[in-house]
Amino acid sequence: TNNRRPIVAGNWKMNGNLALIKQVEELFSDADISHVDVVVCPPFPYLGGFNDSNFALGGQNISHYESGAHTGETAVSMLKEMNCQYVILGHSERRADNNESNELVADKVELALAHKLIPLFCIGEPEDIRESGQLFDFIAAQIDAVINKVGIAAFNDIVIAYEPIWAIGTGKTASPEQAQEVHAFIRQHLAKQDSNIANQCVILYGGSVKGSNAVELFSQPDVDGGLIGGASLNPEDFLSICLAAK
Ligand code: G3P
Repeated sequence: TNNRRPIVAGNWKMNGNLALIKQVEELFSDADISHVDVVVCPPFPYLGGFNDSNFALGGQNISHYESGAHTGETAVSMLKEMNCQYVILGHSERRADNNESNELVADKVELALAHKLIPLFCIGEPEDIRESGQLFDFIAAQIDAVINKVGIAAFNDIVIAYEPIWAIGTGKTASPEQAQEVHAFIRQHLAKQDSNIANQCVILYGGSVKGSNAVELFSQPDVDGGLIGGASLNPEDFLSICLAAK
């Protein structure tokens, strides 16, 4: 038994516009989403465009600096001021496009926690790692970098998002069994340090989640919701995924 509350977060990535904000806010204003914490993570310029949302906001990244002469960067304090409660950290696209290492991601997690933002801490393997049988070592190393930085107790306030890279934006969803296998591993890995924290930590699945596969994925015992890319850009699809969260 657990009292984990499901979360469904939409990661707009570098997509969306003011019109989409309006559509999402209108559709969700009439929806009963009381059983799930819904989060929308738009690009930074749009954070101020949400007015009367009945869901939470998140950023897609923060600088590892707190302020200063860092052109083009966004500080954690700014996300707080713009009413964010969450921030996506360590997304595989940032790890790939911006060379974000496990250590840099851990620094950002520490900074987010210090400012009372909930990290949506992303992990996940490329296909060749899975095929070569190094899946669990790879995932463990991604988690350990953060445990080593902030300690296991901090996982009370961290949401983990497992996103196998081969399933992101590919339409090739992990099967419910594949997702469950890795989610269970993640929980066991945390439990080696603290079983209570492992039991309460919310672990989301990400990678080609759609309205049509969300129920099956979310019904797995260790899958506590989802981090949604493409389907979060369609308000109806996104709502149906939110309603699928147990
Ligand atoms: O962060 C969400 C993500 O990477 C999954 O993207 O488009 O496969 O749902 P998508």
